[in-house]
Amino acid sequence: MRNESPTPSQNQEEEDFLCSVCEGLRSRPKTNPPKYFYDAHGSQLFDLICTTPEYYPTRTETDILERHGAEMAEMIDPSCTLIELGSGSAIKTPLILQHLAPDAVYVPIDICEPQLLNSTQRLQAMFPKLRMQPLCADYHQLPGHVIKRHAGKRQVVFFPGSTIGNCTPGEAVKLLKRIAELVGSSGGLLIGVDAKKSTGILNAAYNDSAGHTAAFNINLLKRMQSELGAQLDVEKFAHHAYYNDAHGRIEMHLVSRCRQAIRVGLESFEFEEGESIHTENSYKYTAQEFQKLARTAGWHLRSTWRDENQLFNVHYLSQSVAEPLKLAR
Ligand code: AVI
Repeated sequence: MRNESPTPSQNQEEEDFLCSVCEGLRSRPKTNPPKYFYDAHGSQLFDLICTTPEYYPTRTETDILERHGAEMAEMIDPSCTLIELGSGSAIKTPLILQHLAPDAVYVPIDICEPQLLNSTQRLQAMFPKLRMQPLCADYHQLPGHVIKRHAGKRQVVFFPGSTIGNCTPGEAVKLLKRIAELVGSSGGLLIGVDAKKSTGILNAAYNDSAGHTAAFNINLLKRMQSELGAQLDVEKFAHHAYYNDAHGRIEMHLVSRCRQAIRVGLESFEFEEGESIHTENSYKYTAQEFQKLARTAGWHLRSTWRDENQLFNVHYLSQSVAEPLKLAR
């Protein structure tokens, strides 16, 4: 007979989700941590967002990696251990892996196990000689010792997609410091960072006409219903995303269409009409702003690659100042 009862770790995950949701709904303004967007359905919706004509970051970064992947691999060390944070469906990863040496090691880390296993299987079939060590974990809470060190191998973190933009600048510095500890003094970081640009382009990217970004935002409420038994009407909330120029970030909100109360766990939460749950920030940085942030965390900028419209930057940073410097172009 199949055992249908949840495992202890499932219970723990649900409890963490409930605590985070209630804590966010108690705070003013109401918030919710963006990591809860990414259940299996949310991850699929995110993949759809990446295919929309409005969401330029994915295709722009892909284009940069296609054009400069060989040079990047040469710089980071083709025989390195490449650790990808939040690897997701790892669509862009082959653009680097194809230029690595057969003795390189690839360590994808993601919170969503089915997606992690699927994408690792796909990559292993494409690159049968590369050693791959998938790790199902929340990289924000990653203890350094869980990544096996391979003697004599340089550890390089690959962090594409401008996911760093979903942290506040303070959290970004902490995460960059944490990555520095993870890779050690000889380590490197290859990171994609979305650039500041016209408000029109930014607003369109987070309000695609197919409605995938709206569905991605609203999926959070659906998760609250199905996983936490929350009593709420999804139709009473609307997706709202806009560029906040003063903070240099896109803000995503779920706005209450009316005065209402919702129930989550044992608590009831009241909303005024127009009151929102702030669900995500997506900070945008000029190359100079990001370089300054990275320096605060102890990283040195070695090279920057960007597209001709200057929409997106891929930076290579090292811990050591001794590496040869490539000028940004
Ligand atoms: C994952 N992250 C970098 C995306 C972004 O652009 O901030 C998440 C996203 N949210 C809405 N659209 C995409």
